[in-house]
Amino acid sequence: MLELLSTPIFYVNAAPHLGHLYSIVLTDVARRWKGLNGVPCVMSTGTDEHGTKVARAASQQQMQPKEHADIHSAQFMRLAQRCGANATFVRTTDRLHNAHAVDLWNKLDAAGMLYRGQHSGYYCVSDECFYSVDELVKNANGKLISRMSGHSVEWLEESNWFFKLREMQPKLIDLYQSRDFVLPSSRHARILQELKSGPLSDLSISRPRSRVPWGVPVPTKNGEESLDTMYVWFDALANYLTACTMNGGCDSMTHIVGKDIQKFHAIYWPAFLMAAGLEVPEHIVVHSHWTADGVKMSKSLGNVVDPLALIDKLGSDSVRYALCFDSTLENDSSFSLSRAIERHNVNIVNKWSNLASRACSPKFDVPRALEIARETFTGPNLPGDNLIEKCSADAKDYEFGKYLHKLNEAAMSANVRIQHAAPWKQPESVQSALAIADAVDTCRLLAILLQPVCPVYATRMLDSLGVAKDKRFIAHAQKFADTDYVPRFRPVAARIING
Ligand code: MSP
Repeated sequence: MLELLSTPIFYVNAAPHLGHLYSIVLTDVARRWKGLNGVPCVMSTGTDEHGTKVARAASQQQMQPKEHADIHSAQFMRLAQRCGANATFVRTTDRLHNAHAVDLWNKLDAAGMLYRGQHSGYYCVSDECFYSVDELVKNANGKLISRMSGHSVEWLEESNWFFKLREMQPKLIDLYQSRDFVLPSSRHARILQELKSGPLSDLSISRPRSRVPWGVPVPTKNGEESLDTMYVWFDALANYLTACTMNGGCDSMTHIVGKDIQKFHAIYWPAFLMAAGLEVPEHIVVHSHWTADGVKMSKSLGNVVDPLALIDKLGSDSVRYALCFDSTLENDSSFSLSRAIERHNVNIVNKWSNLASRACSPKFDVPRALEIARETFTGPNLPGDNLIEKCSADAKDYEFGKYLHKLNEAAMSANVRIQHAAPWKQPESVQSALAIADAVDTCRLLAILLQPVCPVYATRMLDSLGVAKDKRFIAHAQKFADTDYVPRFRPVAARIING
């Protein structure tokens, strides 16, 4: 049972920003969490390289679209590597992907789900979608813009291919009524309510080739030249099928996406899949957005956080930690560099690494302390002893912020306990041995549970605690489940100076 966890594929019209990094981090954290639980799991990411938005960005740079896409795609690939994500990388301009987009199209056509029709409406190139009139407002200059994204629209009238989305509405409602399809559940409930509130319109899924030449041609009967280009979102969504093939076939998929692209993943995508006779995803996980110090990030404001520069400054584990710790799926989060540095210095260095360095002092006999603790341990009774149950519930909901808050509280309370017990006063006593073992073993538990978020620091901690490689799984994340390790402690990370 191989599961695919995916990020969206990123538009190559500009360089990566913090929001893109967040998608990658969240997905890689989820993948590593599943791996720790023994669930076979792979991750995909990639770049969305077709359509007007990308073609216009290339022409502004006096470049061919493919040449321009190559440059930006390489930046996204580098970003995925630099933040420690281990992912299959899909490019929509690759031949393999083209074949998958065509195959999905043909399946829908064969199922009688496509028809030709006349389309007129407001198209937004930045968001690559049509908007209905009630999704638009006038800006200060009287121009129509999308209510959600603020991007401008243009009026189009053309003959396109349509997908019978309205016909799929009952099946979508059944899907939403049968299980928690979208996470968080509050979003799931809102989408179901919308699905029940009125008929969906059929979806235009092609553009005239004369207007949008940069994209996958719609397949034609008898091999005639195609006069239509697949709608860029149709092409893009098919990337998940390409990713499955690149991994030798997957049994289920979970897509992690931002709230701005919920509709495409939570409505259009399952509708395409069901209509084509394919399996729907396990979950669509929808996250909120990052602002920079409370302000929406935008190129024009010049406040876009450069994710690669951030990784250069803080290191990938600390960036991963800060992005997870200070976010929830439900609410937008505000990024500040000084707070990210504080998370590193206070949570990782002061609370966790220092706890281990105190408990592993050369003055203490840690193996003896662990032996005494194991013999006298009667079951979980301290805060944090049953951390794993609480954390697992958060991880199942993809709420890695809440997950990290629990780990941090466990580190804090273990620090208070060792401070209170002061084993350095009488290192030989049984009480001291129990206090030392409690602190060391809490560090071991935290290190096991931190592996998905901070793989480098967690490995460093587990190595220096002397924990065997085959005892680093969730099954070992119980108090004193492993007492056979002999620490030779080295700090996991140095403080970062802000400035
Ligand atoms: N190409 C489409 C996705 C196609 S998937 C079949 C796209 N690309 S994007 O580059 O514009 O956005 C990719 C992801 O980045 C989306 O999930 C989006 O929500 C996310 N983010 C963009 N800005 C963001 C923030 N400020 N904060 C968090 N995530 C954000 O949409």
